[in-house]
Amino acid sequence: MPTLKIDSARLNRTLEELGRFGDTPEGMQRIAFSPADIAGREYAISLMHGAGLETRIDTAGNIIGRRAGSVPGLPAIALGSHTDTVPGGGKYDGALGVMAAIEVVQTLADNGVTLHHPVETLVFTNEEGTRFHRWLIGSRSMAGLLEPEDLIAVDDEGVHLSVRMADIGGDLSRIGEAARKPGDLAAYFELHIEQGLTLLQSKIPIGVVTAITGRAVFEVEIKGMANHAGTTLMPARRDALVSAARLILAVQRLASELQACRVATVGSIQVIPNAVNVIPGNVRLGLEFRDTSMEAFTAAEAELRRAAREISDSDGVEMEIECHRASQPVPIKPPVQALVEEAANRCGLTHTRLPSGAGHDAQAMAAITDSAMIFVPSQGGISHAPAEFSTPEDCANGAQTLLELLLLADERL
Ligand code: HGY
Ligand code: MN
Ligand code: MN
Repeated sequence: MPTLKIDSARLNRTLEELGRFGDTPEGMQRIAFSPADIAGREYAISLMHGAGLETRIDTAGNIIGRRAGSVPGLPAIALGSHTDTVPGGGKYDGALGVMAAIEVVQTLADNGVTLHHPVETLVFTNEEGTRFHRWLIGSRSMAGLLEPEDLIAVDDEGVHLSVRMADIGGDLSRIGEAARKPGDLAAYFELHIEQGLTLLQSKIPIGVVTAITGRAVFEVEIKGMANHAGTTLMPARRDALVSAARLILAVQRLASELQACRVATVGSIQVIPNAVNVIPGNVRLGLEFRDTSMEAFTAAEAELRRAAREISDSDGVEMEIECHRASQPVPIKPPVQALVEEAANRCGLTHTRLPSGAGHDAQAMAAITDSAMIFVPSQGGISHAPAEFSTPEDCANGAQTLLELLLLADERL
């Protein structure tokens, strides 16, 4: 059984505390770069200082806490996640991984334990991508994976990334300096809620992630003809919203019936001019496909374009489809998965292997260092919604497994 024990009450208290920043009756609104996000980041930094960590903010706005190791020159083992939320999100997505990382190093400090490797606690900037519609900004910067489109991004309020970055202590003009050098890190471990039903239904407390899903995001512009809703008879219409409805059903069908990919979602719609007495002339859709195989994306995109051609021919509307961005599926190396399983065994916790349907900072960090994820059950399988909840016991089990994983990695790496 574990020699060092995390403090479950303290972990769940800090989770509750962090959950106060951006909490609203409609769910969490701790959107990246918002005042609530900045307050949450400051709270995390204060906890890192309380755990005796030195802290710095890199040019991508990532918060980096560091606890020295006993062997000079060894690369650090990093633990982390994100504190930004989706609009109307929950209190555990990302937050659990950050609070657990801090709880782990606080436990080391409380017991006067210094590991061979330095330990870093990381809070990544804008994991969700709600702001700028480009996700994993902090972790992709640290992994050297930023794209030119990231650097010119302007948010929905017309504010450029450089301004938002400065608000959180970053510096877009020097963002390249956030990229870690090879050998900086020995491993990256992330505790996260599963955000699905597998662990809950199988009554298994620990998930060992085998792969992180890939994602392809598309923007579709549908051009019909705006016209008077009262005087334009039905045959004369080119109603962009009716054609959009047909395409939305086709997207749902390509994943559910045709199983071209694991999941497909139309998550955003813009109707122009969006007035009840005007036949919509233009509609913009935001949609995404997710799967752990790249072949699935090819099949799903082909079906999307086929359905769009069919609808535009029948309805007399134009459809422009643009792949806004895509991220590859990321496998977790089997030996690192085995280390997570050994850590769970040391805690006396059963575990099961499963893929992640959600994207995570770990998928970026896997490009520069051995990365692993630990999942804990989500009640009702709900996430990205106010009802997102994981029990204090499940959160503590996850943090204890994270501590054991760190101790194992410190011995083995
Ligand atoms: O959207 C996702 O998969 C993650 O929660 N950012
Ligand atoms: Mn997350
Ligand atoms: Mn999320």
